[in-house]
Amino acid sequence: MSDPIRLATGNPGKAAEFARLLGAPVLPIDGWDPPDENGASFLDNARIKARAGARQCPGAWVVADDSGLCVDALGGAPGVLSARYGGPGLDDAGRVQALLTAVEGAPDRSARFACALVAITPDGTELATEGTLEGALAEAPRGANGFGYDPILIPAGETRTCAELAPHEKDAISHRGAAARRLREALGL
Ligand code: IMP
Repeated sequence: MSDPIRLATGNPGKAAEFARLLGAPVLPIDGWDPPDENGASFLDNARIKARAGARQCPGAWVVADDSGLCVDALGGAPGVLSARYGGPGLDDAGRVQALLTAVEGAPDRSARFACALVAITPDGTELATEGTLEGALAEAPRGANGFGYDPILIPAGETRTCAELAPHEKDAISHRGAAARRLREALGL
C-alpha cells in the first residue's frame, strides 16, 4: 500500500490519531459527505461509513470507525447513540452528567468503550475488527485529558479515569487501540 489510507471522516485530528494507531499514513476524505448512521451496532455503522467512503474515494484504501460507551445498568445504552445521549444541545460535560444521573443508585456500574473498524481495499474486499475497554463508571467526572465519556470510565485494574491517563497510556489499552492493532495485523501493516 503506497497511497495514504482514507479515513471516512472530515476530521484531520481523527485521521492523525488513526495514523498513529495504524502506523501508516492516513488522511481524511476531502469534502466528506457523512451518511446517516442508522445501524443497530457499532459494526453496522462503521460498515455504512466505510461503504460511503469507498463510493466517495474510489480506488483508495478506506477505513471507517464507530465507537461509544455501553453501560450494563442501562442495558447497553447509550451504545450507538453515545454522541447524541441526553438529547440535542448537550456538550460532552452535559452528556456525562446525564449519564451519571441515569445510573444514580444502580449497584452495577460496569461499562465499556467499544470500537468497530471496517476497512475496504481498492478491489472492494471488506475487513472488520472490534475492540473493547472494560471498566466501571466513576461517581463523578475526574481528569482533563481525552474527550467524551473519558472523565467517568475507570478501566479495569485502574484507579484513574481515562481522562486522568496520559494519551499513550490510553492508546495502549483502549478499544480503538485494540481494534486498530487487529486491523493492522489483518492488513499486514
Ligand atoms: P464516534 O465513533 O466518533 O461517533 O464517537 C461516538 C461517541 O462515543 C463520542 O462522541 C463519545 O461520546 C463516545 N466515545 C467513543 N470513544 C470514546 C473514548 O475513547 N472516550 C470517550 N468517549 C468516547
